[in-house]
Amino acid sequence: MEKTINISDFPDNDGAIIEAGGKKFAVFKDSGELKVFSSKCTHMHCDIEWQKDDKMWKCPCHGACYKATGEVLKGPAERSLDKTELPKDTNIFTIKESNKRSFDEFKF
Ligand code: FES
Repeated sequence: MEKTINISDFPDNDGAIIEAGGKKFAVFKDSGELKVFSSKCTHMHCDIEWQKDDKMWKCPCHGACYKATGEVLKGPAERSLDKTELPKDTNIFTIKESNKRSFDEFKF
């Protein structure tokens, strides 16, 4: 199941993997500012996941952890998540519900 939401409705101090323009991004809203990263771990490019309770990103492949703002907390990754931008003029994006993150947890 997926849902389309406005960027302005994304909850503050929260993160998620989103899709926009056919690509995945890792986003975190930090005091109203949307920070956008590649969804790929900088170790060997697995897709990272948002850890809601710990407010950090984690890679399921070899356990690397990153702060919500992208800096490495735990290896084997050695560098921060790659910063990027959403496709130009993106105002909406889609987010998929998973067994790790139901829509009910978000405050959309
Ligand atoms: S690919 Fe992410 S920790 Fe190895």
